[in-house]
Amino acid sequence: MNNRSFYITTAISYVNGVPHLGHAYEAIATDVIARHMRQRGLDVFFLTGTDEHGEPVADAARAEGIDPQRLADRNAERFKALMPLLSVSNDFFIRTTDEEHQRRVQAVLQRVHDNGHTYKGLYEGWYCPRCADFKVENEILEGNLCPIHESALTREQEENWFFRLSTFQEPLERLFDGQRDFVMPSRPFNEARSFIASGLQDVSLSRARLNWGVTVPWDPSHVFYVWFDALLNYYTALGYARDGHDLTDEFWPATYHVIGKDILKFHTIFWPAILLAADLPLPHHVFVHGFLLGADGRKMSKSLGNVLDPFEVIDELGTDPLRFYLLRDVAFGGDGAVGMDAVRARYESELANEYGNLASRTIAMVRRYRDGVVPEVAVDPELGAEFEGLRDRVAELLDRAEVSQALELIWQRVRRANRYVEERAPWQLARDPSAAGNLDRALASLAEAVRVLSVLLHPYMPSSTVKLLDAVGAPELGWDAAAFGERGTGTRHAALEPLFPKR
Ligand code: MSP
Repeated sequence: MNNRSFYITTAISYVNGVPHLGHAYEAIATDVIARHMRQRGLDVFFLTGTDEHGEPVADAARAEGIDPQRLADRNAERFKALMPLLSVSNDFFIRTTDEEHQRRVQAVLQRVHDNGHTYKGLYEGWYCPRCADFKVENEILEGNLCPIHESALTREQEENWFFRLSTFQEPLERLFDGQRDFVMPSRPFNEARSFIASGLQDVSLSRARLNWGVTVPWDPSHVFYVWFDALLNYYTALGYARDGHDLTDEFWPATYHVIGKDILKFHTIFWPAILLAADLPLPHHVFVHGFLLGADGRKMSKSLGNVLDPFEVIDELGTDPLRFYLLRDVAFGGDGAVGMDAVRARYESELANEYGNLASRTIAMVRRYRDGVVPEVAVDPELGAEFEGLRDRVAELLDRAEVSQALELIWQRVRRANRYVEERAPWQLARDPSAAGNLDRALASLAEAVRVLSVLLHPYMPSSTVKLLDAVGAPELGWDAAAFGERGTGTRHAALEPLFPKR
């Protein structure tokens, strides 16, 4: 890995269900970071995909009377097709049923075995079939319920290969204590740290009863426990994503794994431990986001009728408004309620009335008062001061995956630029021939503000910002173009349909 490389991943989705807003949310947030890093000139590799083995998928297929591979093929296609609909710019889509993935999982875990980190034993414990996870005592809710699904756990016993997770207690403590940003934000960091402190127990590495999985090479009557197969996707994909070109040296270790809070233990404890056991370098950061809830603040569920359907939002308002809404309305990292009324309200008040209006007023005034050419004069230092350091602060926030905070910072300038229009009132200046210089300056400054804001907003709303930047004759998206200066002066503004028409 060189220091221009930036490797970012989402969790891979289970194929026993179909895509929903939670999946879209994670993919969009990750995409914002990926696009931003590309703007900064980094060499980005962005991975997403599907998690296709394990009991829940085998069970769902059995319930439909079909082969698990058929179910996986059908649903993986839906997840894959969702990405372009969301304008998600992933560089590869991994499926854990890919032959190439399976072969590499076997190779890595064989090394874990050869390094002496496995043993055969009898496992008995409380198992959640929906999580595909044995729960440890301190996680289990009263009445033997799953802490995540609140559904009944079953008592299971079987012969397994075990992974000696307990021997990684100290290395993991050192990792967490030496690298406070290994897990972000601090709440999940602390949660994972106390889980480690409470004492790590060995975990099952294989299952004997199941055949829907990757075969254990040293004991072919077993398949690997689905979580190890799944976690390894982040590593295996680099080996075969590009035909004839292994990207592992270029991109491993990952810069960011973006995950939801329900899969914290796997990514912050099992994952680094298995990598250490295989002598592989550890990822730099795991960023943990919260959960989207129904508008009533409860878990989204079809039966409660509080589900926000991403496809409905896209049909009614478009992809950019969906992306914007999700990152604006829910502070990334926390939980938040989402609903169609709130989407419409933000669309109207912020996209149409603030950003959209700023852009259309600016273009209209440049066309009306200056024949569409932005005056080539110095920009107003008063507005310039508002943009001072903005680019760097946005970059710093996005380095920490603070996607919503960065958006808020940009949005404050959208509002500031709108106030600037009111303060300068170009329509009044236009009536007074002696104010021509002031009008030139106001128009040049506004054109520059619209341009810079669109460059900064590009990762959030890729297609509207490109349309706008094309219309103002300044299509550059690189990080240099995010500095407020004189780049937007002298350019020609073309007419543009409203980006966010009123509904
Ligand atoms: N297959 C595992 C992940 C394996 S990664 C090596 C899995 N799949 S999942 O389909 O259940 O979830 C995929 C991602 O979506 C997870 O990060 C999960 O937290 C996230 N979300 C699922 N529902 C969500 C919400 N309602 N809100 C936000 N994100 C949620 O877990």
